[in-house]
Amino acid sequence: MTAIPRCWDAEVVGVRDAGPFQVLTVSGAPGPSRPGQFAAVTVGGDRLLRRQMWLDRTVDSEDLLEVIVGHHAGLTPRTRGDRLNVIAPLGRPFSMPNAPLSVLLVGSGPASAALVPLAEALVAAGCRVVCLLLGEHVYGRLELRRAASTMRHEPAPATAEQIRGHVIDSLDPEPDLVYSAGSAKQIAAYVDLLGDLPHQVALDAGPICGTGVCQGCVLPVQGNDGYARLARICREGAVFHGHHILWAQTGTDFEYLVGAGP
Ligand code: FES
Repeated sequence: MTAIPRCWDAEVVGVRDAGPFQVLTVSGAPGPSRPGQFAAVTVGGDRLLRRQMWLDRTVDSEDLLEVIVGHHAGLTPRTRGDRLNVIAPLGRPFSMPNAPLSVLLVGSGPASAALVPLAEALVAAGCRVVCLLLGEHVYGRLELRRAASTMRHEPAPATAEQIRGHVIDSLDPEPDLVYSAGSAKQIAAYVDLLGDLPHQVALDAGPICGTGVCQGCVLPVQGNDGYARLARICREGAVFHGHHILWAQTGTDFEYLVGAGP
């Protein structure tokens, strides 16, 4: 069961450093989250927008939640006793397979944090998990190495060709399905290599309002009726079916779609 999202003033009751990331344990969570869900957290100072922060798990009791703060958030490091305004859990979670399957996880950037609770849930469901992490600033190397039967980390793929080469290597033997996490630009670099494989993606949105109002996180998608639409990562995502995203148009000007919301 997933908790209904709520907005609350949370106290930081625990801090753990993990490379360029901090894992903050905050109190007052409304209940359990599911893999792929995230929080929208105020960052203070003169920044109006919140930051998208991935959720690891609910710990110890249903009242405590682990929020992963990435280096991208531009936050000053947090300490115990700090207070943050949090909206969580937000977003559509990953769909789980209904049978034990062979699964490939591909993660890059802060969104790789979304793969940690997913990998643990997949292994608990009997799946065979292979994991590929791309880039230097990824979260969860140790946890993913523990959960996956095979884990590769390529810290500095310099070119798109190298990224594509690593993904091709990880597709042999071919998995039954793929989960990836990263920015739309990072995933667009290799998504064509996945062909018709079922593919779910968790997308980094960066600064967010978390309420669906500002339209700052829109993404071009193909509706079931065949028409292109704009979906909001913070409301209709952050997990999408990879085949629904119009990858070639991500990062471009969407003016032609304004008004064509989902
Ligand atoms: S960040 Fe405001 S609508 Fe998504």
